Amino acid sequence: MKCEVKRAGIVGVGTYVPERVMTNFELPEILDTSDEWIRSRSGIRERRLSADDESTSDMALKASWKALENAGVSPDELDLIIIGTNTPDMLFPASACLLQDGLGAKNAGAFDILAGCTGFIYAAVVAAQFIAAGTARTVLVVGSETLTKVLNWKDRNTCVLFGDGAGAVVMKQVPEDRGILSVVLGSDGSGGKFLKMPAGGSRMPATPDTVAADLHCLQMNGREVYKFAVRAMEEGSSEVLRRAGLTVNDVDFLVPHQANIRIIEHAAKKLHLPMERVVVNVDRYGNTSTASVPLALEEALQNGKIKDGDNVIMIGFGAGLTWAGLLIKWYDCHR
Ligand code: ACO
Repeated sequence: MKCEVKRAGIVGVGTYVPERVMTNFELPEILDTSDEWIRSRSGIRERRLSADDESTSDMALKASWKALENAGVSPDELDLIIIGTNTPDMLFPASACLLQDGLGAKNAGAFDILAGCTGFIYAAVVAAQFIAAGTARTVLVVGSETLTKVLNWKDRNTCVLFGDGAGAVVMKQVPEDRGILSVVLGSDGSGGKFLKMPAGGSRMPATPDTVAADLHCLQMNGREVYKFAVRAMEEGSSEVLRRAGLTVNDVDFLVPHQANIRIIEHAAKKLHLPMERVVVNVDRYGNTSTASVPLALEEALQNGKIKDGDNVIMIGFGAGLTWAGLLIKWYDCHR
């Protein structure tokens, strides 16, 4: 019996960022920090902040409508909706179900993936398996994040680095000579302690004491995450190339997780990849976690950088610790 594996690709992209811009110059008003420190250590100049009444699924909905329109796909056609997020609207139900309802996607299954900032790439890899197996034809994959709502605004080590945003892609089967060529998923739970939100789960349920101690906020050991991040970006990118039988010379664009320009430059240098082939927008959005890769991808498409047939690596790392990479031969269904 012939077993047909279908090649999955991205056929539509959409993004959304909240209106409110917070520049570095606002931060010294509430913290002992400076624009100079933040820019020189992270490359970030400004970030977006979600409104008080704006949730992760609200932003996901706005990005998703744009992605569906861009793909020419109606909500009825969706078989599956996957959101990668660390800041769901609630612990349950899944934000993907709230998005399913918002879209009226009555034929879709829906679930969230929790894989730190790597959640969008994890979700895209999962979607690709459903498509390859023929279990789903059309999948909506979203990275949406409202991390500014869970930051400790008294902790200068973390709060200056993050921002809010959402990005969505529609994935379908594409022609055999296009689409996802290779993937890698990785995890190392022994490093979970380096990036976490300690309270609010079963280990430490919410109490007045946990709230008073800011334990419902993101905590990070920046130096440990930095070391891990550079290694994960380099090794993950090399591994997807190896699995596809390609080399760094074949890479047209690297779309990395946007956490810190120093991490991106360090990884590009180790890969011997010139920065002209690396997509960067961390300066304007900060670290938007799961939204960062689709936000950067959409910008590179809008600027006419990524074209049909280009080899594009998307690479990410994050809490877990996790990392993931995906090598895609870009399919421009609009050409
Ligand atoms: N303003 C001014 N000074 C600061 C600030 C700030 N905002 N934050 C820290 N400092 C101080 C520190 O207290 C320290 O002072 P000390 O030497 O007196 O103790 C000094 O600056 C240097 O601190 P370092 O931690 O050595 O600074 P570094 O150059 O390593 O940069 C940073 C810190 C930006 C956090 C870096 O380590 C980093 O980017 N790490 C990775 C973070 C990351 O990518 N996280 C996201 C993971 S993805 C996810 O899943 C969410």
